[in-house]
Amino acid sequence: MIGSGEGAGLLRAAYRLFVHFEREVELFWDDRRAPRPPRAWPTGYRFEYWPRRRDLDRAARRRVRASAGRLFLASLARRDGVYAVSHGETVVAWGAVFRRSPQRDILGLPSDAVLVGACETAPGHRRRGLYQASLDAVARLVREEGAGGLYAEVLPGNDASMAGLEGTGFLRIGLVRSSVWLGLFSHRQGGWHFVRRW
Ligand SMILES: CC(C)(COP(=O)(O)OP(=O)(O)OC[C@H]1O[C@@H](n2cnc3c(N)ncnc32)[C@H](O)[C@@H]1OP(=O)(O)O)[C@@H](O)C(=O)NCCC(=O)NCCS
Repeated sequence: MIGSGEGAGLLRAAYRLFVHFEREVELFWDDRRAPRPPRAWPTGYRFEYWPRRRDLDRAARRRVRASAGRLFLASLARRDGVYAVSHGETVVAWGAVFRRSPQRDILGLPSDAVLVGACETAPGHRRRGLYQASLDAVARLVREEGAGGLYAEVLPGNDASMAGLEGTGFLRIGLVRSSVWLGLFSHRQGGWHFVRRW
Protein backbone atom coordinates (compact mmCIF):
# COMPACT_ATOMS: atom_id res chain seq x y z
CA MET A 1 0.00 0.00 0.00
CA ILE A 2 1.27 3.46 -0.83
CA GLY A 3 1.55 5.90 2.12
CA SER A 4 0.29 9.46 1.61
CA GLY A 5 3.85 10.91 1.48
CA GLU A 6 4.92 8.32 -1.06
CA GLY A 7 1.72 8.84 -3.05
CA ALA A 8 2.33 12.60 -3.20
CA GLY A 9 5.90 11.92 -4.35
CA LEU A 10 4.66 9.66 -7.14
CA LEU A 11 2.10 12.23 -8.21
CA ARG A 12 4.78 14.91 -8.34
CA ALA A 13 7.05 12.63 -10.41
CA ALA A 14 4.18 11.81 -12.79
CA TYR A 15 3.30 15.50 -13.12
CA ARG A 16 6.92 16.29 -13.97
CA LEU A 17 7.09 13.46 -16.46
CA PHE A 18 3.77 13.99 -18.24
CA VAL A 19 2.58 17.54 -17.60
CA HIS A 20 5.17 20.19 -16.84
CA PHE A 21 8.76 20.60 -15.77
CA GLU A 22 11.35 23.33 -15.65
CA ARG A 23 15.02 22.79 -16.25
CA GLU A 24 18.05 25.02 -16.16
CA VAL A 25 21.39 24.00 -17.66
CA GLU A 26 24.76 25.47 -18.41
CA LEU A 27 25.50 24.81 -22.05
CA PHE A 28 29.01 24.16 -23.39
CA TRP A 29 30.34 23.86 -26.94
CA ASP A 30 33.38 21.80 -27.89
CA ASP A 31 35.72 24.28 -29.52
CA ARG A 32 37.57 22.33 -32.18
CA ARG A 33 38.83 25.33 -34.10
CA ALA A 34 42.46 24.56 -33.22
CA PRO A 35 43.63 20.96 -33.76
CA ARG A 36 44.36 19.08 -30.54
CA PRO A 37 46.26 15.82 -30.05
CA PRO A 38 44.09 12.99 -28.66
CA ARG A 39 44.18 12.60 -24.88
CA ALA A 40 46.06 9.63 -23.48
CA TRP A 41 43.92 6.99 -21.77
CA PRO A 42 44.84 5.97 -18.24
CA THR A 43 46.12 2.40 -18.33
CA GLY A 44 43.80 -0.50 -17.52
CA TYR A 45 40.65 1.11 -18.95
CA ARG A 46 38.73 0.25 -22.11
CA PHE A 47 36.52 2.75 -23.95
CA GLU A 48 33.47 1.60 -25.91
CA TYR A 49 31.03 3.65 -27.94
CA TRP A 50 27.72 2.72 -29.52
CA PRO A 51 26.37 5.33 -31.97
CA ARG A 52 22.79 4.15 -31.28
CA ARG A 53 21.33 2.70 -28.10
CA ARG A 54 20.01 -0.22 -30.12
CA ASP A 55 23.62 -1.17 -31.10
CA LEU A 56 24.34 -2.49 -27.60
CA ASP A 57 24.08 -6.26 -27.47
CA ARG A 58 22.46 -7.98 -24.51
CA ALA A 59 25.73 -8.45 -22.61
CA ALA A 60 26.76 -4.82 -23.06
CA ARG A 61 23.31 -3.65 -21.96
CA ARG A 62 23.59 -5.76 -18.83
CA ARG A 63 27.06 -4.38 -18.02
CA VAL A 64 25.97 -0.76 -18.49
CA ARG A 65 22.78 -1.24 -16.46
CA ALA A 66 24.70 -2.87 -13.61
CA SER A 67 26.63 0.38 -13.07
CA ALA A 68 24.47 3.16 -14.49
CA GLY A 69 21.10 1.80 -13.33
CA ARG A 70 18.07 0.78 -15.39
CA LEU A 71 16.85 4.31 -16.04
CA PHE A 72 20.01 5.45 -17.81
CA LEU A 73 19.45 3.37 -20.96
CA ALA A 74 15.66 3.38 -20.68
CA SER A 75 15.52 7.17 -20.80
CA LEU A 76 17.40 7.37 -24.12
CA ALA A 77 15.77 7.47 -27.54
CA ARG A 78 16.63 4.48 -29.75
CA ARG A 79 18.88 6.66 -31.91
CA ASP A 80 20.81 8.24 -29.03
CA GLY A 81 24.31 6.93 -28.47
CA VAL A 82 26.12 5.68 -25.39
CA TYR A 83 29.73 5.51 -24.25
CA ALA A 84 31.13 3.35 -21.48
CA VAL A 85 34.56 2.92 -19.92
CA SER A 86 35.30 -0.45 -18.36
CA HIS A 87 37.84 -1.66 -15.86
CA GLY A 88 37.92 -5.41 -16.35
CA GLU A 89 34.28 -6.32 -16.93
CA THR A 90 32.91 -3.49 -14.78
CA VAL A 91 31.64 -0.30 -16.37
CA VAL A 92 33.12 2.55 -14.33
CA ALA A 93 32.22 5.62 -16.42
CA TRP A 94 29.41 6.27 -18.85
CA GLY A 95 27.45 8.96 -20.63
CA ALA A 96 24.75 9.64 -23.20
CA VAL A 97 25.27 11.02 -26.70
CA PHE A 98 21.91 12.61 -27.47
CA ARG A 99 20.80 12.78 -31.08
CA ARG A 100 17.05 12.32 -30.78
CA SER A 101 16.02 12.83 -27.17
CA PRO A 102 13.97 15.97 -26.44
CA GLN A 103 16.94 17.58 -24.59
CA ARG A 104 18.48 18.58 -27.91
CA ASP A 105 15.34 20.20 -29.24
CA ILE A 106 14.45 21.88 -25.95
CA LEU A 107 17.83 23.63 -26.09
CA GLY A 108 17.26 24.63 -29.71
CA LEU A 109 20.51 23.11 -30.97
CA PRO A 110 21.26 22.90 -34.71
CA SER A 111 19.85 19.79 -36.36
CA ASP A 112 23.28 18.24 -37.02
CA ALA A 113 24.56 18.89 -33.48
CA VAL A 114 25.10 16.22 -30.86
CA LEU A 115 24.66 16.75 -27.13
CA VAL A 116 26.56 14.83 -24.48
CA GLY A 117 25.10 14.51 -20.99
CA ALA A 118 24.21 12.22 -18.08
CA CYS A 119 27.95 11.48 -17.73
CA GLU A 120 29.23 9.87 -14.59
CA THR A 121 32.38 8.26 -13.24
CA ALA A 122 32.07 5.75 -10.40
CA PRO A 123 33.48 7.26 -7.18
CA GLY A 124 36.45 4.87 -6.90
CA HIS A 125 37.66 5.85 -10.39
CA ARG A 126 37.37 9.62 -10.33
CA ARG A 127 40.19 12.12 -11.00
CA ARG A 128 41.97 9.68 -13.32
CA GLY A 129 41.00 11.53 -16.48
CA LEU A 130 38.22 9.16 -17.57
CA TYR A 131 35.62 11.90 -18.08
CA GLN A 132 37.95 14.09 -20.09
CA ALA A 133 39.35 11.23 -22.18
CA SER A 134 35.77 10.08 -22.89
CA LEU A 135 34.64 13.56 -23.97
CA ASP A 136 37.62 13.81 -26.25
CA ALA A 137 36.99 10.37 -27.77
CA VAL A 138 33.27 11.10 -28.26
CA ALA A 139 34.11 14.40 -29.97
CA ARG A 140 36.40 12.65 -32.45
CA LEU A 141 33.91 9.88 -33.15
CA VAL A 142 30.87 12.09 -33.72
CA ARG A 143 32.92 14.38 -35.89
CA GLU A 144 33.90 11.38 -38.06
CA GLU A 145 30.19 10.56 -38.26
CA GLY A 146 29.53 14.04 -39.68
CA ALA A 147 28.17 15.92 -36.66
CA GLY A 148 28.25 19.70 -37.03
CA GLY A 149 29.20 20.25 -33.40
CA LEU A 150 29.28 18.72 -29.94
CA TYR A 151 27.55 20.38 -27.00
CA ALA A 152 27.38 19.40 -23.35
CA GLU A 153 24.82 20.29 -20.70
CA VAL A 154 25.54 20.52 -16.99
CA LEU A 155 23.40 21.50 -14.04
CA PRO A 156 24.40 24.93 -12.68
CA GLY A 157 26.76 24.59 -9.72
CA ASN A 158 28.37 21.36 -10.93
CA ASP A 159 31.86 22.82 -10.72
CA ALA A 160 33.62 19.47 -11.11
CA SER A 161 31.93 18.76 -14.42
CA MET A 162 32.37 22.30 -15.69
CA ALA A 163 36.10 22.28 -14.84
CA GLY A 164 36.44 18.95 -16.64
CA LEU A 165 34.69 20.32 -19.74
CA GLU A 166 36.76 23.50 -19.82
CA GLY A 167 39.95 21.46 -19.39
CA THR A 168 38.98 19.45 -22.47
CA GLY A 169 38.43 22.51 -24.66
CA PHE A 170 34.72 23.17 -24.20
CA LEU A 171 33.53 26.78 -23.97
CA ARG A 172 30.66 27.83 -21.73
CA ILE A 173 28.17 29.46 -24.09
CA GLY A 174 25.08 30.14 -22.03
CA LEU A 175 22.64 29.41 -19.25
CA VAL A 176 19.37 28.08 -20.65
CA ARG A 177 16.09 27.84 -18.71
CA SER A 178 13.29 25.86 -20.29
CA SER A 179 9.73 25.22 -19.34
CA VAL A 180 8.36 22.07 -20.94
CA TRP A 181 4.66 21.19 -21.20
CA LEU A 182 3.25 17.76 -22.05
CA GLY A 183 6.70 16.69 -23.27
CA LEU A 184 5.97 18.57 -26.50
CA PHE A 185 5.94 22.31 -26.05
CA SER A 186 8.87 24.14 -24.59
CA HIS A 187 9.56 27.75 -23.86
CA ARG A 188 13.18 28.83 -23.59
CA GLN A 189 14.47 31.75 -21.54
CA GLY A 190 18.04 32.91 -21.59
CA GLY A 191 20.03 31.33 -24.32
CA TRP A 192 23.36 30.60 -25.76
CA HIS A 193 25.74 32.43 -28.06
CA PHE A 194 25.69 31.13 -31.54
CA VAL A 195 28.87 29.26 -32.43
CA ARG A 196 29.85 28.30 -35.90
CA ARG A 197 29.55 24.80 -37.25
CA TRP A 198 32.70 22.67 -36.77
C1 LIG B 1 32.02 15.18 -12.96
C2 LIG B 1 32.59 13.77 -13.13
C3 LIG B 1 31.90 13.07 -14.29
C4 LIG B 1 34.11 13.87 -13.41
O1 LIG B 1 34.59 12.57 -13.68
P1 LIG B 1 36.13 12.18 -13.58
O2 LIG B 1 36.35 10.96 -14.40
O3 LIG B 1 36.56 12.17 -12.17
O4 LIG B 1 36.81 13.42 -14.27
P2 LIG B 1 38.26 13.52 -14.90
O5 LIG B 1 39.24 12.82 -13.99
O6 LIG B 1 38.28 13.18 -16.33
O7 LIG B 1 38.35 15.10 -14.84
C5 LIG B 1 39.43 15.69 -14.50
C6 LIG B 1 39.22 17.21 -14.38
O8 LIG B 1 37.88 17.61 -14.11
C7 LIG B 1 37.87 18.54 -13.00
N1 LIG B 1 37.30 17.87 -11.82
C8 LIG B 1 36.86 16.59 -11.74
N2 LIG B 1 36.38 16.35 -10.50
C9 LIG B 1 36.50 17.49 -9.81
C10 LIG B 1 36.15 17.88 -8.50
N3 LIG B 1 35.57 17.03 -7.63
N4 LIG B 1 36.38 19.14 -8.12
C11 LIG B 1 36.96 20.03 -8.97
N5 LIG B 1 37.33 19.72 -10.24
C12 LIG B 1 37.09 18.47 -10.65
C13 LIG B 1 39.32 18.88 -12.78
O9 LIG B 1 39.65 19.94 -13.64
C14 LIG B 1 40.00 17.62 -13.20
O10 LIG B 1 41.34 17.78 -13.61
P3 LIG B 1 42.50 17.41 -12.56
O11 LIG B 1 42.16 16.06 -11.98
O12 LIG B 1 43.73 17.41 -13.42
O13 LIG B 1 42.44 18.52 -11.55
C15 LIG B 1 32.44 12.94 -11.80
O14 LIG B 1 32.91 13.73 -10.72
C16 LIG B 1 31.02 12.49 -11.54
O15 LIG B 1 30.61 11.42 -11.99
N6 LIG B 1 30.23 13.30 -10.81
C17 LIG B 1 28.84 12.97 -10.51
C18 LIG B 1 27.95 13.03 -11.75
C19 LIG B 1 28.08 14.32 -12.49
O16 LIG B 1 28.16 15.40 -11.91
N7 LIG B 1 28.09 14.23 -13.82
C20 LIG B 1 28.24 15.35 -14.73
C21 LIG B 1 26.95 15.66 -15.38
S1 LIG B 1 27.09 15.61 -17.15
